[in-house]
Amino acid sequence: MNYLAPSILSADFSRLGENLSVLEKNDITMLHVDVMDGMFVPSISLGFPIIESIRKNSSMIFDVHLMIKEPERYVERFSESGADIITVHAEACLHLHRTIEQIKQLGKKCGVALNPATPLSVLDYVLEDVDMVLLMTVNPGFGGQAFIPTMYEKIKTLRNRIAERGLDTDIEVDGGIKASNTKKALEAGANILVAGSAVFWGNIEENIKEFQKLL
Ligand code: DX5
Ligand code: ZN
Repeated sequence: MNYLAPSILSADFSRLGENLSVLEKNDITMLHVDVMDGMFVPSISLGFPIIESIRKNSSMIFDVHLMIKEPERYVERFSESGADIITVHAEACLHLHRTIEQIKQLGKKCGVALNPATPLSVLDYVLEDVDMVLLMTVNPGFGGQAFIPTMYEKIKTLRNRIAERGLDTDIEVDGGIKASNTKKALEAGANILVAGSAVFWGNIEENIKEFQKLL
């Protein structure tokens, strides 16, 4: 199934509730929540209080992308805060397999994220264990950056590896996704498209409709 997962990072935080209700009114069922620690990535974004407060008023799937060092310290807390999918970066985990198990034991869906320069081979022995692979299509840390074109090939290669193993793992792409490159990303094999600036900058409803025509 294909999803558009708007990234909260580009929302207007002074009108967050309003922004999120526009998403729900327009049939968005997945929300991408970017958590940054100022160490794994240069920025600091948001944490538990915001997730807990929006959880009370939303039935969307909360897709929580942890751009934090040693995320195993916090996965339980994010699970309690209302995450449905918890994604950790392979580069941030010393014991990736253990962290994946930790997330699954909490009854949550597990994603593993890879930075643009990280080879797919880090997934060789864990691909069967994860529900989703998040391919960063920009270097993580900021919204509004340009999609890195060499990532199409990476998406294709990953989709082939997933198919060769008889799996149906989700491939999420994150960074620089716009209506103009959506078709190419889907054709390469992605099925969850994260979009921050392309959804929240300008008219949210019109932006969503433009994506939905392409899904
Ligand atoms: C970047 C974040 C993204 C970001 C995408 O580090 O992981 O989710 O919000 O923003 P856009 O869609 O504007 O590139
Ligand atoms: Zn993200």
